Amino acid sequence: MEEKQVKRRRIVLVPVPAQGHVTPIMQLGKALHLKGFSIIVVQTQYNRVSSSKDFSDFHFLTIPGSLTDSDLKNLGALPFMLKLNQVCEASFKHCLSQLLQEQGDDDIACVIYDEYMYFSQSAAMEFQLPSTALSATAFVCRSVLSKVNAESFLIDMKDPETQDKVFPGLDPLRYKDLPTSAFGPLESILKLYSNAVNIRTASAVIINSASCLESSSLAWLQRELQVPVYPLGPLHIAASAPSSLIEEDRSCIEWLDKQKPSSVLYISLGSLALMQIKDMLEMAWGLSNSNQPFLWVIRPGSVAGSEWRESLPEEFNKLVSERGYIVKWAPQMEGLSHPAVGGFWSHCGWNSTLESIGEGVPMICRPFTGDQRVNARYLESVWRSGVQLEGELDKGTVESSVKRLTVDEEGADMRKRAIDLKEKLEASVRSGGSSSSSLEDFVNSLKMKNF
Ligand code: UDX
Repeated sequence: MEEKQVKRRRIVLVPVPAQGHVTPIMQLGKALHLKGFSIIVVQTQYNRVSSSKDFSDFHFLTIPGSLTDSDLKNLGALPFMLKLNQVCEASFKHCLSQLLQEQGDDDIACVIYDEYMYFSQSAAMEFQLPSTALSATAFVCRSVLSKVNAESFLIDMKDPETQDKVFPGLDPLRYKDLPTSAFGPLESILKLYSNAVNIRTASAVIINSASCLESSSLAWLQRELQVPVYPLGPLHIAASAPSSLIEEDRSCIEWLDKQKPSSVLYISLGSLALMQIKDMLEMAWGLSNSNQPFLWVIRPGSVAGSEWRESLPEEFNKLVSERGYIVKWAPQMEGLSHPAVGGFWSHCGWNSTLESIGEGVPMICRPFTGDQRVNARYLESVWRSGVQLEGELDKGTVESSVKRLTVDEEGADMRKRAIDLKEKLEASVRSGGSSSSSLEDFVNSLKMKNF
């Protein structure tokens, strides 16, 4: 009887319309669906998740009047996010009120929003619904940065000597590792953080991480936030949910099938990174000189001034046909779990970081922006399963790091540590593990209406 009542209750998810944010919130939706909730995904007109067979049990709603692809091009990513939060507030309220009219307020258990879709919380508050923010590891940094004095922080950030110093309270992160360069000027980034963090009224925060990875950051959050914090990740292990916004080229898996175990370097820079042609060429020649096979994802539009891979020289293209493979977008999880993959060159987005650790694959870390530097620093100096490439990229460094990872003893040690972490992460999402218990606690609090 009680089971029936729980099944009927709905959870509203509000994703940021970008691959790296859609992925974890859809995984969370799957995990909660398995726990008996109905899932409603409220999305914007830009970058919609399709109601494919993988989500046939979910209900999808699109907020009218929200921003589109051309708005993103005209505005740039950061102003786009700030504007999105303005334009969506009223239409989301309207959407929630309609949902409530359909079945009554007892029916919606919670609104779970990506921390950057903070417009959701005022609507949830207006209807007295509990709301929960979904975030990840760099949340601690964003919380700290939301409170810095912008003027003196800007001066510190411009001083090259300060750049290499550890930021007080965030050891081992240095000033240069902080998430301060996310697609716009520092002032706008601090504004976004302060909007997302300081005006938060969420009743709880869900973190896509596990205590075995980040115990001290999680303890900090429990202490500072004054609302329950649920570290229930990695969500891709807890509940896989294929939600690629780009078509995957599966031919690379057939190519991997023909390679030797642990021999291939998988290269992918996620869904947003933009690299310079010069760096792409250094990468190509470094890969060439390393003599290792590679699977390289070159996302169309990810190289400044190029459509796709046309800037690669003919000589390198010959090498690709001998011991390389290039695709526009890969089934990444399948690639990382393939026995032929021995290393991952990554921009260190949080999903890629978790996916790589979750498969015990050591990494070459070449962060671009935002939280990627935080993740790269942790991979190199805390989890010690990655090597970070800092400064100018040149073919010599590329060659030596590929060898360090795939051929040298150092790489074998990193692999051992990555496998150790993989086992710990798998244990954390198994019944009785810390993340699994955290998910149970969250679900129970919804059932008991503890918020
Ligand atoms: C963005 C930010 O850039 C990142 O810093 C933040 O942590 C999350 O949001 P993105 O840059 O796309 O994400 O990187 P990431 O978090 O790694 O997410 C990329 C996702 O795309 C991963 O789940 C990965 O499996 C998937 N992917 C990537 C593919 O499925 N195929 C590919 O070829 C490349």
